Amino acid sequence: MEVIISDDQELATLVADAIERLLGSETAPVLGLATGSSPLSVYDELVRRHEHNGLTFSNVRGFMLDEYVGLPESHPQSYRNVIDAEFVSRVDFREGAVQGPDGTAADLVAASSDYDRAITEAGGIDLQILGIGTDGHVAFNEPGSSLSSRTRIKSLADQTRVDNARFFGGDVDQVPRHCLTQGLGTIMEARHLLLIATGGHKAEAVHQMVEGSISSMWPATVLQMHPHVTVLVDDPAASRL
Ligand code: GLP
Repeated sequence: MEVIISDDQELATLVADAIERLLGSETAPVLGLATGSSPLSVYDELVRRHEHNGLTFSNVRGFMLDEYVGLPESHPQSYRNVIDAEFVSRVDFREGAVQGPDGTAADLVAASSDYDRAITEAGGIDLQILGIGTDGHVAFNEPGSSLSSRTRIKSLADQTRVDNARFFGGDVDQVPRHCLTQGLGTIMEARHLLLIATGGHKAEAVHQMVEGSISSMWPATVLQMHPHVTVLVDDPAASRL
């Protein structure tokens, strides 16, 4: 596990550099995309490089980490719409090149295993962008998640619903109770994991992830078992290391 401590813009530059290298070296690169505020500077930097340096995503496939269950497709806070607005529609992905778990499916169990299979059939994820929850969740793998889990339906922890209420007008009752999420086992199959964490509210989760014992109670600790992880943190998020 490589830990890099710097400011948000420098961290975004480093992640964008890694993505640009991947796009330059693979004919059919597969990117793992995360929602949440942590990767926003990365997406802005990639959009800038697309607009000014001709960085193209026309041959790139993307897979999202997770999705709320039960939000209508038109809901602005569905992760599908969030990632479209924040990144996908701002660059030149081909139509349908970015997939996410289908949180509106009638059969959520089948939708989960279909999604897991789609990632495998695409050749697996070359580079996965990750954030971390204040309770140490990765994607929506909340404390107690099996460290070898696959894409599946999960309940959201109360803490996560409180943390995410800010996207739902501050009303925690509007935050869905369930989600579909790539499992920790699914995420661990990506070839390179880059996890971004900024702000003092992430310090305990970052401390556990990097220095804690591996435990399902701090799901991000499973990353210690991955052969190629880059953790990118600012000073406040690194304050307990
Ligand atoms: C959300 C997402 C995660 C994200 C995390 C942190 O609940 N499901 O993928 O990494 O919480 O979010 P943020 O980056 O906004 O702090």
